Amino acid sequence: MASKNSSNGDLQTTTKPPPLPSPLRFSKFFQSNMRILVTGGAGFIGSHLVDRLMENEKNEVIVADNYFTGSKDNLKKWIGHPRFELIRHDVTEPLLVEVDQIYHLACPASPIFYKYNPVKTIKTNVIGTLNMLGLAKRVGARILLTSTSEVYGDPLVHPQPESYWGNVNPIGVRSCYDEGKRVAETLMFDYHRQHGIEIRIARIFNTYGPRMNIDDGRVVSNFIAQALRGEPLTVQLPGTQTRSFCYVSDMVDGLIRLMEGENTGPINIGNPGEFTMLELAETVKELINPEVEIKKVENTPDDPRQRKPDITKAKELLGWEPKVKLRDGLPLMEEDFRLRLGVAKKN
Ligand SMILES: NC(=O)c1ccc[n+]([C@@H]2O[C@H](COP(=O)([O-])OP(=O)(O)OC[C@H]3O[C@@H](n4cnc5c(N)ncnc54)[C@H](O)[C@@H]3O)[C@@H](O)[C@H]2O)c1
Repeated sequence: MASKNSSNGDLQTTTKPPPLPSPLRFSKFFQSNMRILVTGGAGFIGSHLVDRLMENEKNEVIVADNYFTGSKDNLKKWIGHPRFELIRHDVTEPLLVEVDQIYHLACPASPIFYKYNPVKTIKTNVIGTLNMLGLAKRVGARILLTSTSEVYGDPLVHPQPESYWGNVNPIGVRSCYDEGKRVAETLMFDYHRQHGIEIRIARIFNTYGPRMNIDDGRVVSNFIAQALRGEPLTVQLPGTQTRSFCYVSDMVDGLIRLMEGENTGPINIGNPGEFTMLELAETVKELINPEVEIKKVENTPDDPRQRKPDITKAKELLGWEPKVKLRDGLPLMEEDFRLRLGVAKKN
């Protein structure tokens, strides 16, 4: 019997020892010694994670992605690299590969995409996570799930610690994502307790940076695209709702620390710096295009009023905290969006 303290304070007891990892992990002297699967690796966070993992010459990286919201373009610098492999694969189908670690990111993250086919979204979260856990069990791999701050729903506790169970609408238009991720977390812990699988759960808060889909309905990408096109910045009413934004390099650093560390999580990874939507619009306007106007528009149902991570656990258990400030991160994203939108910088 092995037991571990989960980060929300409950004692997690596993009834079985973890399955043995592949013998290759210990016997490959001339090859890379860590094979890592990244599901959803052609997406925004996934492709930055792949960049970081590939920097380590001991890593071999396999990406499995169905290109629903991701793109080969995000990985073009690695295609053809001997330590890299890209597979078109939908995680709702089983996948048989020999790996030591699985970063399970596959899932559309933006409301526009996850609401487009909610049944597929929940299947991706539930069946996709089951398939990846099955794989982890078969090959003895450690698996990390990218869960979300949406598991807290419209929180009644502020900021949100991992011990907070959330305030989630089970039948709303966002539930395919929120409840899907909650079930995915449950499956992770059930496999951990029942089969001894080594699990890691990251609860990701809003993340931004280059390679986000333009016009994906997420607020930072929307504002930057609107500012570059000279269109009004559309702030959803009332405008006082808050979000916190984590730059993608900080996020990737947190995910790798969690995977490499000893704690199952769930652990919040996000930037606690809190901004109202109006403040964000003002900052984008000031930094990118002072000539655009700010316009208030109707809100979408179940939009949470406040979101801010309590990152005490990440600091204590992972020695992690975000380094990039919003004012430094936005210009890095602006450069990437200018290139993709073909908008040159005015001198
Ligand atoms: N970006 C954020 O602010 C944020 C916040 C909270 C949680 N997350 C989580 O982080 C992960 C990555 O998010 P992202 O922002 O990079 O999103 P993204 O949409 O850019 O990336 C998701 C990737 O998963 C792929 N995918 C989707 N469904 C799939 C399926 N059924 N089979 C195989 N591949 C599939 C997509 O093609 C895409 O490449 C997601 O799990 C998301 O829920 C992100």
